[in-house]
Amino acid sequence: MPDQNDTAVHVKVQDLEMRYNNFLIQKNLNFEIRKGEIFMIAGSSGSGKSTLLRHLIGLMKPVNGKIFYHDRNLWDMLPQEQKALQRRMGILYQSAALWSSLTLGENIAILLENFTDYDQSEIRHIVEFKLALVGLAGYQDYYPSDISGGMRKRAGLARAMALDPDIFLFDEPTAGLDPVNSQRLDSLIKQLRDNLGTTVVVVSHELDSIFAIGDTVIFLDSEEKTITGMGVPADLRDHPPNSRVSEFFNRENK
Ligand SMILES: Nc1ncnc2c1ncn2[C@@H]1O[C@H](COP(=O)(O)OP(=O)(O)OP(=O)(O)O)[C@@H](O)[C@H]1O
Ligand SMILES: [Mg+2]
Repeated sequence: MPDQNDTAVHVKVQDLEMRYNNFLIQKNLNFEIRKGEIFMIAGSSGSGKSTLLRHLIGLMKPVNGKIFYHDRNLWDMLPQEQKALQRRMGILYQSAALWSSLTLGENIAILLENFTDYDQSEIRHIVEFKLALVGLAGYQDYYPSDISGGMRKRAGLARAMALDPDIFLFDEPTAGLDPVNSQRLDSLIKQLRDNLGTTVVVVSHELDSIFAIGDTVIFLDSEEKTITGMGVPADLRDHPPNSRVSEFFNRENK
């Protein structure tokens, strides 16, 4: 658990409603993400987890409701303020985690070249350092296709870390990985938080991950189209507030 600023709110979501055109995805979403916590977004396929992440990042504008970062409404900010905030986010999308035509080193360096004033030698050092943090020391000249799926995910994390973000937002980081690599990635995410104190938001429907690293979880119900469960993962499993939360958190097939 985060040991400092335990109650500081990093992100606050108020009465959020999300739609594609007129089609309702989720409504009445209300929750807070505390600074330094690992906050899980769970729910069945199609419930709107990735859509919620896109709203948190500011890629989609809410139909109704508000998203606050440190008490500032994301959509009351000037465009350049929004961009500055987004630059402080370390994002791992559900697909296309890396640019396949660039080496692992170039995948990270391109962000530093675009958004910082570091010179080439400083950038080289930062790239080496970030890759080392995820257990990929010496792999900067490899292409994504040269390495395993687990290593690619870790390289994606290294890229998300490039600009020393205030908050990480990961969409299904362990999807498609075998249990051993899933566990490695989960430990890495936990280490990131423990060592850097960074707030981490993780979309996941995988119970092993939710129980292993989540401080708080919200359950997006695809029938009710709102959050029907919120709290400490093990509490939701042991004291589910309704049958769909119970089914989700107690299912055999993880
Ligand atoms: N660009 C889009 N335009 C219209 N509808 C969309 C779009 N993207 C997603 N949807 C629909 O919105 C709903 C929520 O999609 P979303 O991708 O957020 O779900 P998810 O919970 O992330 O699912 P998964 O677990 O499969 O990744 C789905 O019914 C999906 O078909
Ligand atoms: Mg998704």
